[in-house]
Amino acid sequence: MRLNRAEFALMNNPLRAAIQRRFETPRLLHMGGALRGGTALELGCGRGVGAALILERFGADTVDAFDLDPRMVHRARKRLEPRGRRARFWVGDATSIPVPTATYDAVFDFGIIHHIPHWRRVLTEVSRVLKPGGRFYAEEVLARFIRHPIVRRILEHPQADRFDGDTFRTALQEVGLDPFGTRESWRSFAWFVARKPDA
Ligand SMILES: C[S@@+](CC[C@H](N)C(=O)[O-])C[C@H]1O[C@@H](n2cnc3c(N)ncnc32)[C@H](O)[C@@H]1O
Repeated sequence: MRLNRAEFALMNNPLRAAIQRRFETPRLLHMGGALRGGTALELGCGRGVGAALILERFGADTVDAFDLDPRMVHRARKRLEPRGRRARFWVGDATSIPVPTATYDAVFDFGIIHHIPHWRRVLTEVSRVLKPGGRFYAEEVLARFIRHPIVRRILEHPQADRFDGDTFRTALQEVGLDPFGTRESWRSFAWFVARKPDA
């Protein structure tokens, strides 16, 4: 689902970019390592800060990225314009990714899957579009945070069938991914790195 006004402002904010650059990226790199070039996909790219980090810090040669919200895609495209053909954007839905099976060396989720009612379908798609040996890097928001009464007053998330860290990790295994790295903070935020086994 699209963000409400409060979260749209929070996501298009220098503080969000700083957290992504200085905290989330080092953590995911520490857990899963950098890429050796290759092609990456970002789900729900927002204004494109993650896509730039995937090229600069994770080391992908190219990045494809999409978001449900055309305003976000417009901002991301502008941000990555100097990268030319290394970055490609479209408006799309993470429950149905319009690319062939086994396309990407890595897939990234910077906090989007908790916005999606049928989130398990996203994991099925992630597993499908990853090449054997490819990696899934995810930073996620857990049920405990989403269901907090103060959070519910300010932000808007689907409430049914939300996940904690164990549920998400099990769901990764159910779609054939091996979650070899997991971190959790305050039972509210979690980081995962999972690998698709070699064919
Ligand atoms: C919390 S924001 C995170 C944005 C960005 N990844 C970041 O870290 O700043 C969640 C993003 O997911 C997008 N989104 C929500 N549901 C989506 C879906 N089904 N498919 C693709 N993007 C979606 C929203 O439009 C929003 O840009």
